[in-house]
Amino acid sequence: MSNIIKQEYSINRENYQERNGHRSFVIWLTGLSGSGKSTIANSLNRKLFSSGIQSIVLDGDNTRLGINKDLTFSKKDRAENIRRVSEIAKLFIDKGQVVITAFISPFEIDRMLAKEIISSNELIEVFIDCPIEECEKRDVKGLYQKARNGEIKDFTGVSSPFESPKNCDIRIESKKQNIEASVDQILEFLKTNSWLPID
Ligand code: ADX
Repeated sequence: MSNIIKQEYSINRENYQERNGHRSFVIWLTGLSGSGKSTIANSLNRKLFSSGIQSIVLDGDNTRLGINKDLTFSKKDRAENIRRVSEIAKLFIDKGQVVITAFISPFEIDRMLAKEIISSNELIEVFIDCPIEECEKRDVKGLYQKARNGEIKDFTGVSSPFESPKNCDIRIESKKQNIEASVDQILEFLKTNSWLPID
């Protein structure tokens, strides 16, 4: 990359943040398939939207239908998935957005890479902690069943590991509380730690 030189533009991240009246950063949701990541992301996004916050959701299913449709669920491709998503999230941070990401992101090393790309000062790690038995019972997409039948390989929690985060900023026990309580837990964190001017 020695012939590539970073370009600077006159409207920068700070200008966007100032105009929006809030900081820009990533709320990174990690957890098993069926743990509630997308539902929580959706509901949180609605709340932020109604509070006048500029926000966007990026999730595994949608990005894998588009920009990441060439990727499998091998360890290498999951790393590439997280790398690309982190780079995309960074572009949105530069544009003053609060980015909510919903990816299983099962490997500690990939979550560390996300923090490196985005900067750990701009990333809040939220562990949507739900027992596998519960995710499998819900089986909203019928994928656990397929994984058990051997129709899907490398399925997280069944034939591929999930490494629980050790130092997450927020841990949500999504089996024990409803969506609203989970979203409130995140909003409370954002408010208390002065991430966002919301009430
Ligand atoms: S990640 O591990 O690379 O972070 P990501 O969040 O993008 O995963 O995609 C997960 C979604 O893909 C799941 O919600 C599920 O619907 C679907 N999926 C399909 N195959 C698999 C698999 N082998 N393992 C996990 N999720 C899978």
